[in-house]
Amino acid sequence: AAGPDLAGRHVVISAGGTREPLDPVRFLGNRSSGKQGYALARTAAARGARVTLVAANTALPDPAGVDVVRVGTALQLREAVLKAAGDADAVVMAAAVADFRPAVYADGKIKKKDGQEPAPVNLVRNPDILAEISAERAREGQIVVGFAAETDDVLANGRTKLARKGCDLLVVNEVGETKTFGSEENEAVILASDGTETPVAHGPKEALADAIWDRVAARLARRTA
Ligand code: C5P
Repeated sequence: AAGPDLAGRHVVISAGGTREPLDPVRFLGNRSSGKQGYALARTAAARGARVTLVAANTALPDPAGVDVVRVGTALQLREAVLKAAGDADAVVMAAAVADFRPAVYADGKIKKKDGQEPAPVNLVRNPDILAEISAERAREGQIVVGFAAETDDVLANGRTKLARKGCDLLVVNEVGETKTFGSEENEAVILASDGTETPVAHGPKEALADAIWDRVAARLARRTA
C-alpha cells in the first residue's frame, strides 16, 4: 500500500444506492452494495486522509476512523455531500444515484383495486450532483471523481460522460446483474480530463480504490507544488 500521501487532506466519498420512495413501503432502488465506496473510504483513511463517507442504504459496518453520514434519497445525498464538500480536497461520487424519483409520494400504502388498471408511475428528474460539484468547486483545486456503470459501449459512453459531467476523473466499469454489484472485485478504466486512460485489471475493490487515490494524490501534489 501507499504511504500517508493523503495526510492533511479531507476527502468526501458517496457510497451505496439511493432509494426513491413511492409510498411508506415501496421505493425505486438499484443494485449498488456500497462496497466500492467503502473500499475507497478504508484506503483513504489508511493513506492518512480525514474521510467523510456519505452512505446511502448500505448494510456494511462503519469503517474505523471514518465519519459516516447516512442518507436515503438522492436529495438527502445531495445535501450531505454538498455540506461535506465545502472544505474537501477531493470528492468521489461512487454512489449509484437515481436519475429520477416518483413525482408524487403517497402518504398511505398504494392499494390495488379489483378490475382497475394500475396507475402509471410518473417520474421527475433528480439533480445531477456530480455535475453540480464539478461546476461549482467549493474549494479551489478540488478534485472531483465520478463513476460510470455501463452495460454497453463502456469506453465510448465513459468519454462522453467525463466531458458532460466536467469532473477530473471518471472510473468506468461494466455492470450487470451478476457483474460488479455486490461483488468483492471490480475491473475498470480510469479516464482523466487530460486524456489519459488507465486500465485497472480485475481484482479487489481496494486495488481499484488505491489506483484512484494514486491519481488523486498526484493531482493534489501538483496543485500545491
Ligand atoms: O449519469 P450517470 O448516472 O451514469 O453518472 C454516474 C455518476 O454520476 C456517478 O458518479 C454518480 O454518483 C453521479 N450521479 C450524480 N447525480 C445523479 C446521477 C448520477 O451525482 N443524479
